[in-house]
Amino acid sequence: MSKKNILKFPKNFYWGASTSAHQVEGGNFNDWTEWEKKSSKSKVQNAKLENWSNYILENYPNPLQDNNYISGQACDHYTRYKEDFALAKSLNQNAHRFSIEWSRIEPEQGKFNQKEIEHYREVLLSLKERGLEPFVTLYHWTLPIWLAEKGGWLNPKTPYYFDRYVKIISENLFNEVDFWITINEPLVYAGDAYLKGFFPPQKKSIFKYFKVLNILAKAHQLAYKSLHLIDLDCQVGIAKNNIHFKNIFLAHYFWNKYFLNKIKKEQDFIGLNYYFHHRFFKGRKLLVSDLGWGFYPQGIYYLLKDLKKYKKPIYITENGLADIKDTKRIRFIKDHLKYIYQAIKEGVDVRGYFYWSLLDNFEWNKGFWPRFGLVEIDYKTMKRKIRPSAYEYAEICRENGVQLRKQIIK
Ligand code: FCB
Repeated sequence: MSKKNILKFPKNFYWGASTSAHQVEGGNFNDWTEWEKKSSKSKVQNAKLENWSNYILENYPNPLQDNNYISGQACDHYTRYKEDFALAKSLNQNAHRFSIEWSRIEPEQGKFNQKEIEHYREVLLSLKERGLEPFVTLYHWTLPIWLAEKGGWLNPKTPYYFDRYVKIISENLFNEVDFWITINEPLVYAGDAYLKGFFPPQKKSIFKYFKVLNILAKAHQLAYKSLHLIDLDCQVGIAKNNIHFKNIFLAHYFWNKYFLNKIKKEQDFIGLNYYFHHRFFKGRKLLVSDLGWGFYPQGIYYLLKDLKKYKKPIYITENGLADIKDTKRIRFIKDHLKYIYQAIKEGVDVRGYFYWSLLDNFEWNKGFWPRFGLVEIDYKTMKRKIRPSAYEYAEICRENGVQLRKQIIK
């Protein structure tokens, strides 16, 4: 890479990729695994009514198969994590975001499984050995069965159960972790599970939706205090999915600010998950991912400028696209990075970027077919194969900078 026209990022910038336990580990037993078994047939029926492009249907596992919707062995990351971290390391990454699976730690109410805690200690040590700074998510959408049976996030006691689990994790692992993300995307989860009926427990009630948001905020607040009591110096935040809404102030306020404002006093950093522009967009045709999500890299710039008001460090905890052919991925990454760079130049304190995802994985109610990975998974053999875009992202990580394709920075 010629050294000319490289946009250099700040010193000590974190470069990495994200995953979540349920989407990659395999062998889980939680509210999702049980729901997947019950709902896979109807998902196939619904999928048959959709218009699939050939290039998706030609690739295994396709959306018309039952097993597309069952997480099962996922990427078998639970046993192959060392191999996966070695890949991340070989791609010059220096940080990694992953989640701890609550249902493994507390399979029965109040009974904590020390063996599983030790598993995650090994995971953390294996990251550290390779110079990958861990960012640890404590709740990424899956619940132990016993808790789902008690009403999950609709139960006002759940924040206390969460806090107890968080304390156990942090008492055991605080030496290994500096960055904690309590909750992943509270609004996406609450909306899909309690308003739209896409995620278990598939409710459709605005009343329940708001109740769940309040309970999630409470859970974060309790966990924030506990994490700091155990380790004064740790950094705690959430991963917040924000959408760029053009000229829709109310939507912007509600989707992007409402929850962050609730936890204003209890966050040391903001994790930003950015995927798209608002969905009511009807203007210019945008480049789209395999999921039909339109590219709008400028959006991240506007969102970052707006988040500056919170006066907290910001980490991009997710940004990525489903692209089985890997023809658009590197452009997507570079274009977003250019706008992140521009925001940094204008004083926004962005300290890290995590591509979603290190590996192809189980994309929730959509199943296995969308391919977000820097690394491709062959689900029959579990073989890993680095995609070409991953090598280009590796260059960016190595250079701590991105090469300009065309001049966008004034
Ligand atoms: C985000 C989720 C993540 C993944 C990506 C594609 O909303 O946090 O788990 O599914 O979308």
